[in-house]
Amino acid sequence: MTESLSVSVWRGGAVGAFREYSVPRRASQTVLDVVTHIQRRIDPTLAYRFACRVGMCGSCAMTVNGVARWTCRTHVARVAPHGRLEIAPLANLPVIRDLVCDLDVFFEKWQRARGRFEPSAPASTDFARIAPDSGERRAAEAGIECIGCAVCYASCDVVAWNPAYLGPAALNRAWTLMNDARDAAHGARLRAVAGDAGCHACHTQLSCTERCPKGISPTAGIAGLKRMSVRALIRGAL
Ligand code: SF4
Ligand code: SF4
Ligand code: FES
Repeated sequence: MTESLSVSVWRGGAVGAFREYSVPRRASQTVLDVVTHIQRRIDPTLAYRFACRVGMCGSCAMTVNGVARWTCRTHVARVAPHGRLEIAPLANLPVIRDLVCDLDVFFEKWQRARGRFEPSAPASTDFARIAPDSGERRAAEAGIECIGCAVCYASCDVVAWNPAYLGPAALNRAWTLMNDARDAAHGARLRAVAGDAGCHACHTQLSCTERCPKGISPTAGIAGLKRMSVRALIRGAL
C-alpha cells in the first residue's frame, strides 16, 4: 500500500479545473474520508456534501475515477488500488461549487412523476393490511429503499441526451407507488410517466441498475411501467 494518495479534485462550477492534493493513506479509508481530510486539513474552501456517513441520507454521491458512487461507503482500496483518485461532482446535474451539485431538477422530476404517496383512505382509518407475499407488495418493496442519491441519474446516458427525461430514480419511485395498493393516484401517475420523456424513453442500458448502491433495479421498474402503460393504452385507459 502506498503511504499517500494522489487526489485530483474538481474545483469551480461548470467552468473549473482539477486541483491536486496529497492525502495520507489509512486503513479502511473511504472516499468521503479523503475529501473530508482535504477540506479539514488542507483546503477549507473545498465545498462538498454529506450527512449520515452510513449510507442512508444519499447526500454524498460524487464521480470517483469516472464512476458515480456514494462516497461514504466506497473504500479507497476498492476503487484506487494504485493510490490515484479523481473526484468530481455528479454528471447530468448543474454544479453549484466544487463537488456540490444542484439537485432541484432531480427532485422536480420526482414531482413530475407524482412520486409522493396519495392515500386512498383518511388518516383516521386503521392500518391497511397488505399481504407480504402478494406480487404488488414484492414489486413495491424492490424499489422502496431508494435513498435519493442520484447515482443512477448521473449514470444514465438518456438523461444526458434528453434533459427532459424523468430518469431512473423518479421512475423507480413511480413504479413503487403504482404497486402500493393504498395509493389513490395510479391513473394520474401512469399518465405522468407514460409520455415522451417518461418510461418509454429508457433504452434499457442498465447503467442505473449496475451502479445503484442500494441494489435497486430501476430498469426492472421502468420495464414494469412500460408494460402497465401499454396495457392501459390497449384498454383505452390512457
Ligand atoms: S436502464 Fe434506462 S433509466 Fe437506467 S440508465 Fe439505462 S436508459 Fe437510463
Ligand atoms: S435508485 Fe439507487 S442509485 Fe437511484 S437514487 Fe435511488 S438509491 Fe440512488
Ligand atoms: S453520507 Fe449519507 S449516504 Fe453517504
